[in-house]
Amino acid sequence: MKKIGVLTSGGDAPGMNAAIRAVVRSAIYHGLEVVGIRRGYSGLIQGDIMPMELGSVADIIHRGGTMLFTARSEEFRTPAGQDRALEVIQEHGIDGIVVIGGDGSFRGAKVLCDRGINAIGIPGTIDNDIACTDYTIGFDTAVNTVIEAIDKIRDTATSHERTYVVEVMGRDAGDIALWAGVAGGAESVLIPECKYDIKEIVEKLERGANRGKKHSIILVAEGAGKAFAISEVIRELTGKETRVTVLGHIQRGGSPTAFDRTLASRMGSHAVELLIKGECAKMIGIQGNQIVATDITQALATPRKPDMSLYNLAGVLSI
Ligand code: F6P
Repeated sequence: MKKIGVLTSGGDAPGMNAAIRAVVRSAIYHGLEVVGIRRGYSGLIQGDIMPMELGSVADIIHRGGTMLFTARSEEFRTPAGQDRALEVIQEHGIDGIVVIGGDGSFRGAKVLCDRGINAIGIPGTIDNDIACTDYTIGFDTAVNTVIEAIDKIRDTATSHERTYVVEVMGRDAGDIALWAGVAGGAESVLIPECKYDIKEIVEKLERGANRGKKHSIILVAEGAGKAFAISEVIRELTGKETRVTVLGHIQRGGSPTAFDRTLASRMGSHAVELLIKGECAKMIGIQGNQIVATDITQALATPRKPDMSLYNLAGVLSI
């Protein structure tokens, strides 16, 4: 292993820059050459590749987004796109690639491995929807962004004695809603992995109002339903005003938390060590504060489950 490449792919996540920095600096530390592949698999196909030095990753550890840009590539799904990517990898003499992204990005990494290129995946997505790792890079920052928003919404919700329905991202996973719901003290948390009964939610709202509660926050994961529709049903059933906030892409931005920076640094460095050992098709994860590696195929095939103890806790604390 003499030269490795690093790319970010799929939705960006805070901490991706810290992961790129860790890959570049660890590679140089171990005497490897390293290049940055810009715009994910699209950039790989187009040969959008730049050399990375120690200074290339200076002053990025605290920045959100990804300095390498990102994309979702349809072309890389086609055999012709994959052939072209392979040619580019060979033209540039790249022996191994670190792919930072979500499950779609890992499917791409698996394709590279099947075609003889060593690739290692690092989970970078705010959704925390990847199995075989307790956390993905960006999740902690996104949850903190949501909590900051909820705290602000709570001020105005209390002043007007209103119910707010707040919709958060997460694609098909409810982790952002669940963690932010517990940490933000939401009255109800709606996640795609668990059925909910809107009548029970309304009953809880009414119990709260009867004991003098001034506001309520209902947190909805985007995969569990649309905040506007849920808000309308609540308004009809309670006869009271409701308001909706869809937090959207602000959840993907911002300076990464210390947790995400540290996680990204540990994962980035471990990915390089695995490439040096000749490993392929592995995904780095964190389990019980230990950095581990799992076969990408296994990680992709394992169903991702929410933490039900946290879900139950959300119910207990919002009685
Ligand atoms: O996977 C990250 C994510 O932010 C999801 O939470 C969300 O559903 C999706 O990406 C949004 O994608 P886009 O940026 O393409 O609108």
